[in-house]
Amino acid sequence: MNYKIALIRGDGIGPEVVGEAVKVLEQVGKKFGHTFTNTDVPIGGCAIDAVGKSYPDGTAEACKACDAVLLGAVGGPKWGHSTDPEKRPETALLSIRKDLGLYANLRPAALRPALADACPLKKETADKGIDLMMVRELTGGIYFGQKERYQTEDRGEEASDRMAYSEKEIERIGRRAFELARLRRKKVASVDKANVLETSRLWRQVMHRLAEEYSDVEYEDVLVDNAAMQLVRDPSQFDVIVTENLFGDILSDEASQITGSIGMLPSASLGDGTRGLYEPIHGSAPDIAGQDKANPIGMILAAAMMLRYSLDMPAEADAVEAAVNTALESGLRTGDILEPGKTAVGCAGMGQAIAANL
Ligand code: IPM
Ligand code: MG
Repeated sequence: MNYKIALIRGDGIGPEVVGEAVKVLEQVGKKFGHTFTNTDVPIGGCAIDAVGKSYPDGTAEACKACDAVLLGAVGGPKWGHSTDPEKRPETALLSIRKDLGLYANLRPAALRPALADACPLKKETADKGIDLMMVRELTGGIYFGQKERYQTEDRGEEASDRMAYSEKEIERIGRRAFELARLRRKKVASVDKANVLETSRLWRQVMHRLAEEYSDVEYEDVLVDNAAMQLVRDPSQFDVIVTENLFGDILSDEASQITGSIGMLPSASLGDGTRGLYEPIHGSAPDIAGQDKANPIGMILAAAMMLRYSLDMPAEADAVEAAVNTALESGLRTGDILEPGKTAVGCAGMGQAIAANL
């Protein structure tokens, strides 16, 4: 079979890590008899430089013509200060999520045995293990509500961001979380701020309805401030965490940090069909761009998620994950996870080793 992949290499270390994922996919193709045809789709800062806007016309169509999208990272200080949305790299990211209908963002955070020492939590906490799946609503809430800025008579300038959620939006992300939990340890923690926000009260109402329907799944409500605390106090209590867009943005960075390195974690953004967008959760890291220092593992694991969720290739996905583990167990480390006694490699060296392990 031939599969069409849209490659959004992006900015900073994006092109380097995408390059390594492509190497690994080529190897997967050879081993399992698939071909991957790649199409470059430039968005973000590089697109601002090339055509004057971060989300060029035709981007969504180009991605829709493919089976899946791999994205490195977009943004950087060079494009950081524009007030014109077309000239902000982040606009491209939000637009592509919305235009492809990718409302479910899956961010798994797991502590790998080979990297247990990188966990910043107390040893007795880390020893209990971390293996959670953050399910973040990605196309609604305050990210996409009306934004306003206006002059008041007596309070100077004022700004507002509207946060709205419909039952339909809550139900579809909730279902995704419960379905995922059924394939894991059958626990869902729904994170909200129902003691203050009306959107959260509706969120909770819908989640409770689903909890009754999925009665085989253990369910709890957790207030977002408490969730932030529990993630560092005892992350082993969590299996699937489901939450709205902004809370999920914040909590997923926290969840990634407790597993050691943000460079290690992948994410999948999914809609109703099989097409998805796969990216590492790290940013473009302009400070180390172009120096062969980036950790490509988050990107390579994102490619593994693509094999699993969009291309229905569970054996291939398992093989990539195993190849990553083998590279780590053999002592190879990029700078971000380097410890005494381990072997330092660059981005390309790590990608090469993982591809070779296949
Ligand atoms: C993320 C990022 C984005 C977000 C930014 C870059 C717009 O932080 O994917 O988590 O807030 O969603
Ligand atoms: Mg974020």
